Amino acid sequence: MTGAGGGFRHFLDLGDAGGDAIAAMINDAIDRKAARVGLPKGAPDADAPLAGRVLALVFEKNSTRTRVSFDIAMRQLGGTVLLLDSSSSQLGRGETIADTARVLSRMVDGIMLRTDDHAKIEEMARHATVPVINGLTDMSHPCQIVADLLTVIEHGKALPGLEVAWFGDGNNVLHSILEAAGLFKFNVRVATPVGYEPDPVFVALARERGARVTLTQDAQDAARGADVIVTDTWISMGQAHAEEKLSAMAPYQVNAALMALAKPDAVFLHCLPAHVGEEVSEEVFEGAQSVVFDEAENRTHAQKSVLLWAFGLLGD
Ligand code: CP
Ligand code: NVA
Repeated sequence: MTGAGGGFRHFLDLGDAGGDAIAAMINDAIDRKAARVGLPKGAPDADAPLAGRVLALVFEKNSTRTRVSFDIAMRQLGGTVLLLDSSSSQLGRGETIADTARVLSRMVDGIMLRTDDHAKIEEMARHATVPVINGLTDMSHPCQIVADLLTVIEHGKALPGLEVAWFGDGNNVLHSILEAAGLFKFNVRVATPVGYEPDPVFVALARERGARVTLTQDAQDAARGADVIVTDTWISMGQAHAEEKLSAMAPYQVNAALMALAKPDAVFLHCLPAHVGEEVSEEVFEGAQSVVFDEAENRTHAQKSVLLWAFGLLGD
């Protein structure tokens, strides 16, 4: 969606890279992960390809995985990060995104932004002269999905034709799954209560690109024969904690009965943080089919390749 000249690329959504580049990222992540087995987590990879580069991590919302994985990813690539949040930077006092983008571009080599409004990251990308990477917006979470695809592949599943079933809220994470479905030709069954469906733009785009997307209110139907079962919190950051929403979501909990309808070798994904007992039962979360901590670890490995791509050092 957003291009950039001068040897770098913005990564606001998966479509900015496209299927071939994301496949290259996943292969690179698999190779780099294998090559550093046994190294301390802060030790650089042998080639340290981002030596001397600094990435600004800008958070307008909370984070554990995204914050830590970008920091560790940069260390492993030989670079460093600095951290900004809205409460302690001038963003919190109303300095514009446009000015922040232009200032940061003079001081750092790249910007990761987590924000409440996707329009803000588009604004950042318009004014930055260094790569801008989406660390989650209200609309999408592309870095998470590169890690999810890596995790699914590591667990022996090929992407084309994969049956992915999503349960609960039609949110930012689902939007990026739908974007990936279009790029990699896998199918998504989406089970949500009425009124909580994903943005139709993401559904239409996935379908146009050849993915089968089924929208249903029947959780059992969606789970039957699925290869991947995935859910996320029912209340995303920035949303009101509404009892009405929680009760509407209750039939969409991923529990043992639902998991039993999927293929016997299906895996359970959750981007985390999880609310065990709400969107997922403890039995499933802690069960043998749950790969959520592989998925969390893979945020680091996947992001290294996203960074290399954004800096023009990977893919075409
Ligand atoms: N999955 C994810 O993005 O986690 P954080 O909110 O902790 O970064
Ligand atoms: N949908 C969640 C994802 C958190 C990583 C949120 O936006 O809060």
